[in-house]
Amino acid sequence: MEKRTIVTMPGDGIGNAVLEETIRVLDAAGFDAQYVNADIGWEFWKEEGNPLPERTIELLAKHKIGLFGAITSKPKDDAAAELNDDLKDKGFVYSSPIVGLRQYFNLDICVRPCKTYEGNPLNFIRRGKNSIEEPVVDVVIFRQNTEGLYGGVEWSNPPDNVYNALKTHPKFVKNFSKTPKDEISVSTRIFTKKATGRILKAAFEYAKKYDYKSVTVCEKPNVIRETSGMMFKLAQEIQASEYPDIELWNTNIDAQMMWLTKNPENYGVIVAGNMFGDIVSDGFAGLIGGLGFACSANIGDQLAVFEPTHGSAPKYADYDVSIVNPIAMIESACMMLDHINEKTISKKIRKAISEIIKEGKVKTYDMMKMTGKANVIENGAASTTEMADAIIYKLGL
Ligand code: NAI
Ligand code: MG
Repeated sequence: MEKRTIVTMPGDGIGNAVLEETIRVLDAAGFDAQYVNADIGWEFWKEEGNPLPERTIELLAKHKIGLFGAITSKPKDDAAAELNDDLKDKGFVYSSPIVGLRQYFNLDICVRPCKTYEGNPLNFIRRGKNSIEEPVVDVVIFRQNTEGLYGGVEWSNPPDNVYNALKTHPKFVKNFSKTPKDEISVSTRIFTKKATGRILKAAFEYAKKYDYKSVTVCEKPNVIRETSGMMFKLAQEIQASEYPDIELWNTNIDAQMMWLTKNPENYGVIVAGNMFGDIVSDGFAGLIGGLGFACSANIGDQLAVFEPTHGSAPKYADYDVSIVNPIAMIESACMMLDHINEKTISKKIRKAISEIIKEGKVKTYDMMKMTGKANVIENGAASTTEMADAIIYKLGL
């Protein structure tokens, strides 16, 4: 059989170190693939005025599977100031290449599992009646990845036709029509039935396949009536007609953020729009060790890209020895292996990671609750490479 080709996009900052170590782990676990490197990120913004070059789009369109590290994003004006001189004032406008990728290829299903590792010193603990409790979290968040508040349909000082359209809404007239137009910024929250239905179906299918008893829609339908309301109503219809054995729960995002430290073990599959999905997944990730452990998949009909939830952590990027935790990236690669049906290999890698964490001998700085500084290595923390080495050693036993 022909070898599978994976498009690797290290991106910026620590994306490079964690992706490099992940590929070593994949090799050691016996995943037989070839990798093609694709350009993405800040360097290409500065030099070409485009952080997501067309050649990268083409490689992904051809090979269908991407492994992505992280990118650096900066506000519009700061980004424009860093362009190479010959590109300045030529109309280039920065936008995040990973958000761009999700939209270009319609990678509309974002999956973010948050599962407790036994023995992780960063596990959430809470006070019980007469004891300290360590609830086991096993939550998988399904985040709509292309629409909603991150859909990019927004204006400051909106053009007349938009402003006039807003003025047809009685609440706009009542609350905003006395404000001068040039003091108004608008970010829209557009949900479509098609994309909302797809994320809900993906969530229910997952719950059914992996035996979760509930799917929780985490939105705010009592206030954001049209979009959140549409999502919950659609969830009710889908549940009633196709998944009667799975319970449908409804939580508000604000209350959910409080409940996640009260009773996180009660939740299974959670589904939300783009922004609330982003928020609730970071919340749950905090219970299982934080950004060093949070993995994710962006899945579309044709193509899928796997990435850790964390960003490029620029302050650690230039250390002689990389100190960041590679587990989030390695776990993201395991999600890729599951997606392409290499489950024996993903299982092996996950087992090795669990054993290392449970033994507690090799810990990156975050697992030792240290502040990230170059000297953490002298103080006993494992480097990014040492953590990968430990996982590779386990794979060989
Ligand atoms: P960040 O996730 O890069 O870092 C925040 C902090 O989390 C770090 O300072 C570090 O203390 C910790 N951290 C992150 N990854 C870690 C790891 N693997 N192991 C241990 N600790 C880790 O977020 P920040 O600082 O808000 O953003 C930095 C840059 O990354 C920005 O330019 C931002 O736009 C970009 N970003 C990119 C994302 C992506 O590529 N998908 C996602 C989030 C942020
Ligand atoms: Mg986030």
